[in-house]
Amino acid sequence: PARIRTHHLQQAKAEGRRFAMLTAYDQYTAQIFDEAGIEVLLVGDSAANNVLGHATTLPITLNEMVLFTRAVSSAARRPLIVADLPFGSYEVSTARAVESSVRLLKEGGAHAVKLEGGAQFADTVRALVRAGIPVMAHVGFTPQSEHALGGYRVQGRGDTGRRVIDDALALEAAGAFCVLMEMVPAEVAAKVDAAVQVPTIGIGAGASTTGQVLVWQDMAGLRGGKQPKFVKQFAEVRSVLADAATRYAEEVRSGSFPGPEHSF
Ligand code: KIV
Ligand code: NA
Repeated sequence: PARIRTHHLQQAKAEGRRFAMLTAYDQYTAQIFDEAGIEVLLVGDSAANNVLGHATTLPITLNEMVLFTRAVSSAARRPLIVADLPFGSYEVSTARAVESSVRLLKEGGAHAVKLEGGAQFADTVRALVRAGIPVMAHVGFTPQSEHALGGYRVQGRGDTGRRVIDDALALEAAGAFCVLMEMVPAEVAAKVDAAVQVPTIGIGAGASTTGQVLVWQDMAGLRGGKQPKFVKQFAEVRSVLADAATRYAEEVRSGSFPGPEHSF
């Protein structure tokens, strides 16, 4: 199957088709989601919470992001692979942003990078595009700024909706190939999708965006506990794994595993 490219996402928007993006951080999920027809894999800095056990996305390093990206790119044949620029790897200067992104493409095997922030990062997007690196912009709620934003909250309610639209327009003008919106009112996301020519992706942004994204552990029900409102669980992988581990341990303790068929 031919590789999905940024222009295929553009084409989807032009033809009124939607596409699906999921996070992936390792080879098996990358392979499974590829075979399932997922168009875009995001090596998200959400690996900080969902793989490494941190409380926020802030602690994950560029080196760690390169490793996760390498694992995904080694296994996924068809999806476009987007890697997150982690907190601290792109804000200081446009040169730093280019250096960090080059590592995600060169060592990680990503095809594009994603960065969080609004119009104030237009220069950064321009510098990356000039270097030949496709950029996905992430606006609305941006988890790397959760301390500045006062926690996980919907962005763009009321009068501030205009700012989300202006951010999207500025980032598109700077050359971003796609605008991802997190936790913004559905009407604002719909206005953004109508305002920009590039495809949009939503998470907690209603149904009017060109694509949708979820963290795979949320989508598949691996993570326990309370889920954000925007999550739909399409499976209960946590209970499947828990059941397998319980039965394995029982068979080990009872001596029924390994059997003769597993022995040399
Ligand atoms: O890191 C992440 O998982 C994201 C999302 C948009 C889901 O950035
Ligand atoms: Na992210």
